[in-house]
Amino acid sequence: MKAFSLLTFLATAALSVLALPATPLDSAVQYQGVKVLRVPVGEDTAPIDQLISTLSLERWTVHSTPNSHVDVEVPQDKYDEFVSAVDKISAESNITQDIVVMHEDLAQSIKEESEGSFEPKLDRRAGLANQAWFTNYHPYADHIQFLTDLAATFPANSKVVTSGTSLQGRTITGINIFGSSGSGTKPAVVVHGTVHAREWISTMVTESLAFNLLTNATAGVAEVKAYLEKYDFYFFPVVNPDGFVYTQTTTRTWRKNRSAPPSGSTCYGTDINRNWAHFAWSQSGGASTSPCAEDYKGTAQESAPETKGLASFLRDRAAATGVKLYLDVHSYSQLFLYPYGYSCTTQASNAADLQSISTGYAAAIRAPYGTRYTYGPACSTIYKTTADSTDYTYDNLGVKYSFTAELRDTGNYGFILPANQIVPSSIENWAGFKYLLANMK
Ligand SMILES: *[C@@H]1O[C@H](CO)[C@@H](O)[C@H](O)[C@H]1NC(C)=O
Ligand SMILES: *[C@@H]1O[C@H](CO)[C@@H](O)[C@H](O)[C@H]1NC(C)=O
Ligand SMILES: *[C@@H]1O[C@H](CO)[C@@H](O)[C@H](O)[C@H]1NC(C)=O
Ligand SMILES: [Zn+2]
Repeated sequence: MKAFSLLTFLATAALSVLALPATPLDSAVQYQGVKVLRVPVGEDTAPIDQLISTLSLERWTVHSTPNSHVDVEVPQDKYDEFVSAVDKISAESNITQDIVVMHEDLAQSIKEESEGSFEPKLDRRAGLANQAWFTNYHPYADHIQFLTDLAATFPANSKVVTSGTSLQGRTITGINIFGSSGSGTKPAVVVHGTVHAREWISTMVTESLAFNLLTNATAGVAEVKAYLEKYDFYFFPVVNPDGFVYTQTTTRTWRKNRSAPPSGSTCYGTDINRNWAHFAWSQSGGASTSPCAEDYKGTAQESAPETKGLASFLRDRAAATGVKLYLDVHSYSQLFLYPYGYSCTTQASNAADLQSISTGYAAAIRAPYGTRYTYGPACSTIYKTTADSTDYTYDNLGVKYSFTAELRDTGNYGFILPANQIVPSSIENWAGFKYLLANMK
C-alpha cells in the first residue's frame, strides 16, 4: 500500500516536471477529422450562410461574396449532412463548381505547420534575432524574446516599445527603429500584424520587415539606410496577444479577442478590426452586431483594450511627428487595400495616388516569385467593412498612406500556411515595403 502511494507520488512528480506549456500540437486533437472546404456560392449567399450557422461551423471566409466561395471548417460528424445540403443548394441555384477540399484533416495540417516550432530551448540556444528565426512559427513568449534580442543587438538604432495592455494583462510589444537623429524625430511608419489571432503568417512577416530594415541599414546598405534617416519605424508583430496565445494553447483558428460574452450571449470575442472609433462604427452592413459573429463590432467604439491601446499609440505619434504610412498586416487572400471600407462610393481624396502606388506595390510583390496581389479601395475590392483600422487612420488621423495587406495564400492552405512559405512571403513583402518607402510622396 505504502509502496503503491510512493509510486503514485513519483509518477505525479515526474509528470509535473515534464509538463510543457500547451501547444497547437496538443490542441490539434480537437481538429481530428475536421475538413476545411471551399464551398461555391451563387448570387444569393443566404442559403449557404444559413446552413453554416445552423450547423455552427467555423468560418474562414468571414463575409460571403456573391458568385464566389466560402471557406469553412466541417467536423466529421457534420460532414454528410453539410455536403448533401450544399449539393441541394447548388442544384437549386444552378451552381456548377464543386466543393474543393483545402484541408483533408486539419489536425494533421496543424501538426505539420508546427513542426520544429515549439521547442523553446532549441530556439533560445543561439539568441533569436537571426535569419533562422524565419524557418518556423513560434510561441508567443519567444516573439517577445525575438524583439528584445533584436533591440539588444542594435541598441543605437532600436528599442522595444509598447502600445497598451490586453485584457489578460499582456503588453502589446513592438520595436521602434530609427536613424542617427534618434527615436521620435521623423514622421512615423507603423506596421502591425496579428490583429486576427489565427493569421500567424502576419506575425512572421511583420518581424521580417523589422529585421531586414535594421540589419541592412546598420550594415550600411545605402538605400535602406536612407529610409532609416527619413522615417521613425514601429513594428508590432502581435497586437492581439490574448487571442494569439489562445490559438497556440486552445483553438488554432480563433479570430477575435477574448472578451467575455455580453449579457444574453454565450459567445466570446470582439473583432478588433471593426471596433475603431470611426464615425461609420454605428452604421449597419459593414460589421455584425451579433456577439457570435466573427466580425462582431463590440459594445462600443474602442471597447476592445487592444484597439484602444493601438489607437492611442497612433494618436500620440500623429500628434508628435505625423504618421506617414500605416500598414495593417493580415492573411489570407493576397490583397492590398486602401480606404474606404465603409463606403463603395466615397473616394479617398488621394485615391489616384493610392491606386498608382498600389499598382507599383503589387508589381514589386510579384517580382520575386510571381505572387499576384489584387488591390484597390477596400469596399469595392472586397466588401463593406465599418470601423476598420485604415478608415480610422485615414479619416481621424490624416494618414494618407493607410493600407491593409492580406498575405499568402489564396486558399490552398489559408490560415495554416506551411512554415516553408514564411521566407518567400517575407522576401516578397520586403520588396513591396521598400517600394512604398521609395514612392510615397
Ligand atoms: C436554374 O436553371 C433553371 C433552368 O434553366 C431556371 O429555370 C432557374 O430559374 C435557374 N435558377 C436560378 C436560381 O438561377
Ligand atoms: C536586406 O536583408 C535581407 C535579409 O536580412 C536580404 O534578403 C536583402 O536582400 C537585404 N538587402 C536589401 C537591399 O534589401
Ligand atoms: C475584447 O474586447 C471587448 C470589447 O468589445 C472587451 O470588453 C474585452 O475586455 C476584450 N477582451 C480581451 C480578453 O482583451
Ligand atoms: Zn484578418
